[in-house]
Amino acid sequence: SMPVPNVQEMVRNNPLTVPERYIRSQEELEKINHIPHLSSEVPVIDFALLSCGNKEELLKLDVACKEWGFFQIVNHGVKKELLQKMKDAAAKFFELPIEEKKKYAMELNDIQGYGQAYVVSEEQTLDWSDGLMLVTYPTQYRKLQFWPKTPEGFKEVIEAYTSEVRRVGEEMLSLLSAIIGMQKHVFLGLHKGSLEGLRMNYYPPCNTPEKVLGLSPHSDTSTITLLMQDDDITGLEIRHQGGWVPVTPMSDALVVNVGDTIEIWSNGKYKSVEHRAVTNKNKKRMSYALFLCPKGDVEVEPLDHMIDDQNPKSYQKVRYGDYLRQSMKRKMEGKTHIDVAR
Ligand code: SIN
Ligand code: FE2
Repeated sequence: SMPVPNVQEMVRNNPLTVPERYIRSQEELEKINHIPHLSSEVPVIDFALLSCGNKEELLKLDVACKEWGFFQIVNHGVKKELLQKMKDAAAKFFELPIEEKKKYAMELNDIQGYGQAYVVSEEQTLDWSDGLMLVTYPTQYRKLQFWPKTPEGFKEVIEAYTSEVRRVGEEMLSLLSAIIGMQKHVFLGLHKGSLEGLRMNYYPPCNTPEKVLGLSPHSDTSTITLLMQDDDITGLEIRHQGGWVPVTPMSDALVVNVGDTIEIWSNGKYKSVEHRAVTNKNKKRMSYALFLCPKGDVEVEPLDHMIDDQNPKSYQKVRYGDYLRQSMKRKMEGKTHIDVAR
C-alpha cells in the first residue's frame, strides 16, 4: 500500500470537503448511474432450521447461492451481547486519536493493520473508508503488533467474536457441501487449519455521496464471508439482475456471501457476486467482515460432479495461495471481479 490520507481524520478536519482523489471519474459515474437500484431484498434464512435439516430452508439456501450469492441469516446462535461487544470495542478503537491508531498502521505491501490496502498509484480513485484488517487464524499467522491494545480487552473480544462466527461459518460449509451434492464434511476438510481474516470497516459521512464510494465494487476471494453491519444505516449493495440491491440491515442478522472459491468448486453454479459500499451524507457506518478461506496449498477446481455436457469445465485448477496473490495483483490494477481463465 501507499500512504493514503486517513479518511476519518480528513472528515473531522474538513467535513464539507471531498478531495478530487475520491471523486469517481465521469466515465465511471455514467456507468454507475446507468445501473438501476432495485427494490428487492436478499433472501433471509433461518439458520436454526437449516442446521436441523429443514428441507424448505435448505432449498432456500440453494436458491440464494444460485440466484443471489448473498443472504442474511437469523437464529445463528451468536449471542446478541457478543455482537454488541464487538461493535462497542471496534467503535472505541476508531474513536481513538489518530496518533494512537497510527501505531497499528498497515505497512507497505501488507494487508494487515490499520489503513487501506490496494492503494498503488496517485491516479487511483480512493475509497471513502478506513479499515482495520487482522489475520485471526491460524494463530501462527497472526501479527500481534497490529492488534490494538486499546480499548482494553479488544483482543479477547475479537477472539470471542471470531470463534463464535467461525462456528457458524463452519456449519455453513457443511451445509454448502450437502446442497452441492457431497458428503457434509468435504468443504470443512478443505478448510482445516485454514486462513481466516477479520476486516473492520469505518465509513465516515461524505458530503457528496453520489460521487464517492465507500468501497469499490469487488467480489470476495474467500470461500464464504460473514458480515455484521450497523443496524441503522444501509451501505452494502450487491449486483443482482442487472441492478444494485441494497442489503437492508436486520438487527442481529449476519450477511453471508459465497466467495470466489465456491464459484470455482461449483463450476459457476453458485456465484461470487460483485458488491460495494456506498457512502452516506449524514452518518458514519461500520461493518465487520469475517473471511473464511482455504489454506494456501489447497487446489481449487470445479468438482467432477459439477461438470457435464451442459456444464463444461469453466475454470482452471489453481492453488489457493496463487489465486490470492493473483487477485491482489489484479485488485491493484483496478480489476475487481473473479476472472480465472474461464
Ligand atoms: C465488504 O465488502 O467487505 C464490506 C462491505 C460493507 O461494508 O458492507
Ligand atoms: Fe467484500
